[in-house]
Amino acid sequence: MSTYPKILVTSAAGKTGLPVAVKLLEKGVPVRAFVRRNDHRAETLKRAGADVFVSNQYDISALREAMQGVQRAYQCAPTAPNGLHFNAAFTVAAAEAKLEHVVTLGQWLSSANHPSLFTREVYLSDALARLRPAMTVTSVDPGWFADNYLLMIDFAAHLGLFTMPLGLGDEKKNAPPSNEDIAQVVVGALLDPKTHAGKRYRPTGPELLSPNEIAEAMGRALGRKVKYLDISEKMMTKALRAIPPNNYSEAAVSQLAIYAKEYRRGAFALNAPTQDVSSVGGREPEAFEDIVRRHVAAHPNLKQSFGRRLSALAGFLKILGTPALDLARVERKRDYVEIKQPRFCQESKEWTQTHTPQPRILKNLESA
Ligand SMILES: NC(=O)c1ccc[n+]([C@@H]2O[C@H](COP(=O)([O-])OP(=O)(O)OC[C@H]3O[C@@H](n4cnc5c(N)ncnc54)[C@H](OP(=O)(O)O)[C@@H]3O)[C@@H](O)[C@H]2O)c1
Repeated sequence: MSTYPKILVTSAAGKTGLPVAVKLLEKGVPVRAFVRRNDHRAETLKRAGADVFVSNQYDISALREAMQGVQRAYQCAPTAPNGLHFNAAFTVAAAEAKLEHVVTLGQWLSSANHPSLFTREVYLSDALARLRPAMTVTSVDPGWFADNYLLMIDFAAHLGLFTMPLGLGDEKKNAPPSNEDIAQVVVGALLDPKTHAGKRYRPTGPELLSPNEIAEAMGRALGRKVKYLDISEKMMTKALRAIPPNNYSEAAVSQLAIYAKEYRRGAFALNAPTQDVSSVGGREPEAFEDIVRRHVAAHPNLKQSFGRRLSALAGFLKILGTPALDLARVERKRDYVEIKQPRFCQESKEWTQTHTPQPRILKNLESA
């Protein structure tokens, strides 16, 4: 029998939840994996030894049931509306179940008056989780994931183009962490609450990269030349609605557009890279090129062929023909508390004081 406490992993079929669950199971830790459907990912988790719990994690009754016999948990809200609802229900259920330690996935951008509703909700969720002294909390607050770039890998593989609204090609604005490295930090914090209670970590990749360098790394991994093309916010909304998995809600697309603005403003470059993957996760962070190589090896459809090039071209035309999302309309249509003076991270005194900005980035803000 395992000597480890049982750990609940929410969003266990997701980008970080799946590797968190698998890494814990590999260490012999009993895991209850919360998923919303019984699909191939649930099968993988079962085969790895997880106690798979299939239900709706926005439902407090389901969370209460999932927390029975559990001592620690990974709290991961999906990138979707109602994140604060999920986090509030999770925190109430965790208090009732008297969980001893929770690792919560937040955001590097997390701040009280951010223009993004999702980000304001992350800020509140984090504060809520920390209100109860009997339960210790570690916040893992990554910036822009490496995985986000892989959304566009088909076009890179078959058309030689990496298209995203990231601003000038030569500005180094992100040190992207892999899903696995984020999971590695989460696992480190889950297994050693004494060391990590109350702390905040920001996993990053090993170095800051510019969009041109990201395109070049994709090119080396794919064995072809890939060129970065800066696209407009409007084009980004078309792409997110047209390309697979095209399952982002209008609300989520509108938030991703705000995150791209923060990217261009340099918020993800601040104080990156960090040492958190090695100091908490116990291994060196993966280089972006290695992340792409792993992805390419797992996706044979990225091998070049005439047919795939044609189908990528058709995908590109589909993007052009998809109506752009009217972001102002989405904001107007939504019925939620609006704040008087929204502030991007580096305009917020509270955020800058807690995230120690570097002056060289601040200088570039006006040009973003
Ligand atoms: N991407 C970034 O750059 C970035 C940066 C900083 C922070 N974050 C944070 O990362 C978090 C998301 O983490 P992630 O990327 O690991 O998650 P993810 O890949 O979006 O996974 C979410 C999982 O939750 C599942 N799910 C959705 N609704 C559910 C429901 N009602 N009941 C049960 N399961 C449900 C989804 O199921 P299906 O797969 O079946 O749909 C999915 O597997 C967000 O809170 C976001 O703020 C992201």
